[in-house]
Parts: sequence; C-alpha cells; structure tokens
Amino acid sequence: MDRYEIVGGRRLEGKIRVQGAKNSVLPILAATVLTAGRCVIHNCPALSDTALTIRILRTLGCSAEWRQGSIFADSSVLSHLELSSVLTGKMRSSIVFLGPLLARCGRAKIAYPGGCRLGPRPIDLHLDGLRQMGAVVQEEEQHLLCHAPEGLQGARIVLSFPSVGATENLMMAAVLAKRKTTLMNCACEPEIVDLADFLTRCGAKIYGAGENTIEIEGVRALHGCEHTVIGDRIAAATYLAAAAITGGEIAVSGIEPENLMSMLAMLQKSGNEVFWEKNCCCLKAPPRLQALPQVRTMPYPGFPTDGLPLFLSLAAAAQGTSIFVENIFENRYSSVPCLQRMGASIRQEGKVAVVEGGSPLHGADVCAEDLRGGAGLVLAALAAQGISHIEGIEWIERGYEHFCENLTALGAGIWKK
Ligand code: EPZ
Repeated sequence: MDRYEIVGGRRLEGKIRVQGAKNSVLPILAATVLTAGRCVIHNCPALSDTALTIRILRTLGCSAEWRQGSIFADSSVLSHLELSSVLTGKMRSSIVFLGPLLARCGRAKIAYPGGCRLGPRPIDLHLDGLRQMGAVVQEEEQHLLCHAPEGLQGARIVLSFPSVGATENLMMAAVLAKRKTTLMNCACEPEIVDLADFLTRCGAKIYGAGENTIEIEGVRALHGCEHTVIGDRIAAATYLAAAAITGGEIAVSGIEPENLMSMLAMLQKSGNEVFWEKNCCCLKAPPRLQALPQVRTMPYPGFPTDGLPLFLSLAAAAQGTSIFVENIFENRYSSVPCLQRMGASIRQEGKVAVVEGGSPLHGADVCAEDLRGGAGLVLAALAAQGISHIEGIEWIERGYEHFCENLTALGAGIWKK
C-alpha cells in the first residue's frame, strides 16, 4: 500500500483552486437516478468515492462517464435495482440511493452502507422517514429490502436530529412522491442547498433548502439538467490550515465565503489574518498560532465535525491550551494517538479533548484511520521537525483530489511512496 513521506518544517505559500465538494457530488449523482434523462455535472473531483458512485450508477443500468472534471450521466434506463455490499460497504453515502430508487422505481435492495469508522452510523432516520412516506422496509441481515406498493406519499416528517444524509434521502424521495412533503429539523449544510439546486434545475419543486424546514411538492417526472457543484469547504479549510500550521500564506479560490465562516472565525481566533481578495480566501499565518479556547462541533452553520481533526492538529502546534467538544460523532478523535506519537500533548475522554500546545511536534510513523483524521495527521507532519510516514492514505484520498500534488505545489515536502 502507498504511504506519504513528509519532511516537515517547510512554509507553505501560494495559490490553489479547491476541488468541487465531495459531499455534494455524491448525493447529486444519486439524484440523477430520479431523472429519466441526461445530466452533466461540472466541477466533480477525481476521488475514489466519485469513482465508486459512478460504478453504482452503472450497476443500476445508467451510463456515467467522468471526463476532465465533468460527469455525464444518463439514467433513462434502470435495469437493476440491487446494490451489493461490494458497492455499499465502503461508502456511507451509498445509502442515499435508496430514496431515489424508491421514488423512481418503487423498490430497491441495498446492502448496509459502510464508510469512515466515526462510531455507529445508524440509518434509522432515513428508514423511519421513508416508512412515513409509505415505503415498506424490511431490515434483513445483510441488506435492506424496500418497496412502495402504492408509490411514495407526501408526509410531514420531523427528524430527531438534523442528519445530512437523511435530509438528502428524504428530499430526493419526496420530489416524485404524491402531494406535498414537509421535512422539519433538517440539516442546513451548503451541500443540501446544492442538491436542492440540482433537483430544481431538473424540474423539482423544493422550497426552503438550507433552512430547518424544507417543503417539497411532488411532481410527475424530472428531466435532465446541467449543474456545477459548489467548492469543497472542508478541503478549502484543510489547505488554509496547512498554510496556518506551517507559518505560511495562501489564497484559495473556487469556494463560497459563506460556506466556511465558522472555520474561518476559528482560524482568525488562532491568530491568522484571513481576508477575501479577488474571489480568493486568503490567509497569512502568525509567527506562532494561538490556542483555541473552545471548539464545539455543531450542525451547520456551527463548527463542522469534519473540521475538528484539522483544528486538533493546529491546536497541537499552537501556544496554550485548547478545548474541543465533539457533538456529532462518537469517534472523531481517531488521530489523537498518532498526534501524541508526534509529541502532541492531548488528553481525550469521551467527546472532550484538551490540547496543551507549546512543545514542538516531531516526525513519526503513523497511520490514518479515517478521511479527516488522516488529513489532520498530514497537517501535523507538515509542521513537525523531521520526517513522518503516513500509512492508510487510501482513507485520505477518498476526499482530497491531487492532495500530494497540491501540497507539493505550495512548497510542502511530501511524496507518495
Ligand atoms: C455527512 O455524513 C457527511 N458525509 C459527513 O462527512 C459529515 O461528517 C456528516 O454529514 C455531518 O456533517 C457525506 O455527506 C457523504 P449525519 P452523514 O447523518 O450523512 C446520526 C466526510 O468526512 N444519525 O448528519 O452520515 C449519526 O450517527 C464525511 O466527508 C442517526 O442517528 O451524517 C451522527 O451521530 C464524514 N441516524 C449524526 O446523526 C440516522 O439515520 C450526524 O450524521 C442518521 C444519522
């Protein structure tokens, strides 16, 4: 298996255009199943998750091609309504094919989804919502067997937690359901708005995406469309953090300012100068990062759980004591043992981690266990004195397009070996 070799201590400097949002592309590709037509989706990152989603589309009988950052999908014909664990076992977001398949074809057989090991990844909110819309869902040992004998019906659904995936799944199920669906306590992430924009372009009637309540008027059919995906706010924050942790400066283009305000505020709190210039988000790092008094992860627009592992590494390199509280997933601290091996002083118990910055980080051999934890290890290695090796980079490359090349272009000493 490949690994990264990183020579730390080099200042990152330069300009980068951030990739399209992974967490938009995946549900939008699933949504193409709802349209019996051709869709062209631009600004799609070349990631293993994107390739796997294209494989899922082809398994269903759709055609799907990735060409220079655009995906050409045609779901006029759906010949197969079963997704095995070979396809769903690696990627949590495969579950969002369930709503579109039920809405378009009235039945689906999907193996349980896998993905990053962030703790239990239940799908009860997805299934309860679909049942309220008239779906019959049998939870068998290996897979979900679902059908909607009378077709999906509009319903009033209150989510007990603003789940991103459940909001996406139920919004997609509702666009072809009979009558109106009201989703309450929805996730408000920018990727939800992006998905709703795509569906609206296809003829769906969706009101309130990005707010706590979304209303969907069912329509008879959707047509294809052309859509450009928003920038990846977590990837953008990762590159900004890479400049911050190495005392550098960077300009990141291709990102919408309002989508990462909570992370920019945290970068400023740790002493970075952050400003917008010529459609770029720019950051100039201070000579020494300051500690982060309190980082609590919350549903959007709060500080995102995906950002926690990145800022954990920043805090390890900063001066002073930082406190983190993870409120979304049970296991967001997978990178802590490896950061400790690099010299970080971190006490973590349950959802709280206390980081005593100040002691310099040193290179070490470590292993990524999930996507954002792995990105956090790269950040720490970029700042550490000496050489680090990072195994498990397949986790990292699920979410970061050309990660090694981009960091190298910014002056990092990183090689894939
Ligand atoms: C999405 O995951 C993202 N993935 C995650 O990003 C992100 O961390 C997460 O939203 C939170 O923002 C994609 O969009 C592909 P959730 P998702 O449903 O939809 C509980 C990354 O690094 N829950 O909002 O799986 C769940 O256990 C990935 O790009 C239920 O209890 O997240 C968790 O505690 C990692 N029942 C909380 O809700 C359900 O039916 C948030 O989960 C569904 C979720």
